[in-house]
Amino acid sequence: MGAPASPPDPYLFGHSDSETRRLQLQAAILDASTSRMMATAGLAPGMRVLDVGSGAGDVALLAAQIVGPTGRVVGLERNPELASLAQARATAAGASTVRFECADIAAWSTADVFDALVGRCVLFFLADPAAVLRDLLRAVRPGGTVAFQEPGNAALPPAVSTRCPTLERMWSWILEVYRRKGMDLHMGLRLHRVFLDAGLPAPTMHLDAAVGGGPQWPGFAYMAELVRTLLPLITQLGVATEGDVDIDTLADRLRREVGETGDAATTWSFISAWSAHAS
Ligand SMILES: C[S@@+](CC[C@H](N)C(=O)[O-])C[C@H]1O[C@@H](n2cnc3c(N)ncnc32)[C@H](O)[C@@H]1O
Repeated sequence: MGAPASPPDPYLFGHSDSETRRLQLQAAILDASTSRMMATAGLAPGMRVLDVGSGAGDVALLAAQIVGPTGRVVGLERNPELASLAQARATAAGASTVRFECADIAAWSTADVFDALVGRCVLFFLADPAAVLRDLLRAVRPGGTVAFQEPGNAALPPAVSTRCPTLERMWSWILEVYRRKGMDLHMGLRLHRVFLDAGLPAPTMHLDAAVGGGPQWPGFAYMAELVRTLLPLITQLGVATEGDVDIDTLADRLRREVGETGDAATTWSFISAWSAHAS
């Protein structure tokens, strides 16, 4: 499958309260794998890190833990409310080495030099991720680390041990919105080519998905919250009706359906890629 025919919207997920909630649920289920990726990629104490598409600030805050008190982290986020929220969260957490700037990463430049460039679920939303990455590399020192984690989407759907019709329907609504909006369903796998096209060496790659079950697992609420974020598009595009989705009961229905199996479920997958900036 090739790249999508039409460029994606500026930010398909919009800027609602439910999207902010979703980002923090995403952090709860994904932060461990993001930290692992950054540490394996070479982030270390004392480094200066640039986090692009910071959202509510979770990746920048994780990077700050790795680089410690002698390191520095700058987060770039286009949505001013999220950039302010991220800064407020950093201040509340006493993370004085982290600062956020409201900026469009497709049109940003700096005289500063960073040891590492990181991002999570952000290249997916760009019309030309390789071009943006190539420009951002100007701010990374030779030998610096580049690490991104992006949605796997079509690479691996949410998995369960037996048929769960609600989970299957939910996934079909999400994929159909992505398709209809020209999103790249293979962004995670495409990271390999995006790195090469940006002038980076072939990346090391890894696939992760959160796995869990039972009443306390936040994965069901996380998946339902993405549907809530996309609900206006789901109904406008005629993918499903509000009645089909029944958003306020969706997380509980998923939890109950998977709970009846006694087994766990996975969320959709995320693919990480990292390599060192050669020049
Ligand atoms: C799915 S969220 C991920 C947020 C964060 N990286 C995380 O994983 O929690 C993507 C974020 O990228 C931001 N974004 C998208 N395109 C951007 C651009 N061109 N410049 C800056 N931020 C952008 C969006 O506003 C959104 O907050």
